[in-house]
Amino acid sequence: MKFFIDSAEVSQIAELSETGLVDGVTTNPSLIAKSGRDFKEVIKEICSIINGPVSAEVAATDKENMLREGEYLAGLAENIVIKLPMSWDGLKVCKIFQEKNIKTNLTLCFSANQALLAAKAGATYISPFIGRLDDINLDGMQLIADIRAIYNNYSFSTQILAASIRSVNHVSEAAIIGADIATIPPKILHQLVNHPLTDKGIDSFVRDWKSTGQSIL
Ligand code: E4P
Repeated sequence: MKFFIDSAEVSQIAELSETGLVDGVTTNPSLIAKSGRDFKEVIKEICSIINGPVSAEVAATDKENMLREGEYLAGLAENIVIKLPMSWDGLKVCKIFQEKNIKTNLTLCFSANQALLAAKAGATYISPFIGRLDDINLDGMQLIADIRAIYNNYSFSTQILAASIRSVNHVSEAAIIGADIATIPPKILHQLVNHPLTDKGIDSFVRDWKSTGQSIL
């Protein structure tokens, strides 16, 4: 499973990329607003830190303007992926970008049929939002499983990018189902390494090693 960071905070992305575990980044207009910074500057900085795909979202919702914005954003760096909303116009632009070899990420996916449409439109990535479905008492993880089954049935190459991740369990459950990628907020990525028994075990090994009076080097 690939790990993308779901953030527009350049310092956090830089720090996490040092782990060597970060395969890409996703941003969205809300994350850009939260950063308080200029969109294009942030995207260029992220692309200079991360070699993998960096999703930048169009602001327009109509076909002509999404095309114009997407083409402009695609020119900012080689690793840009154009994030398009799930809509008929978004799907039309997705198909055009596929023909132009511009990578796309169809966002705000909340149903298996939407994911099917994205795959047929040639999307590079589909972003089903797990947490937002759970928020309204629906089963976000079941959507990941349904999309996995559909894509396997027809050998679609669109990659499943599990999004709106709110817990460490979302990451492991999406991995068990076979999502290709999880886009993870920095806080959750940090939490993935934690286990109380690991901390307890390290403490007792350190204590016992000291009691031997030995040193390795
Ligand atoms: C995905 O690309 C989105 O940026 C993100 O995962 C949305 O998550 P949220 O529902 O926590 O805002």
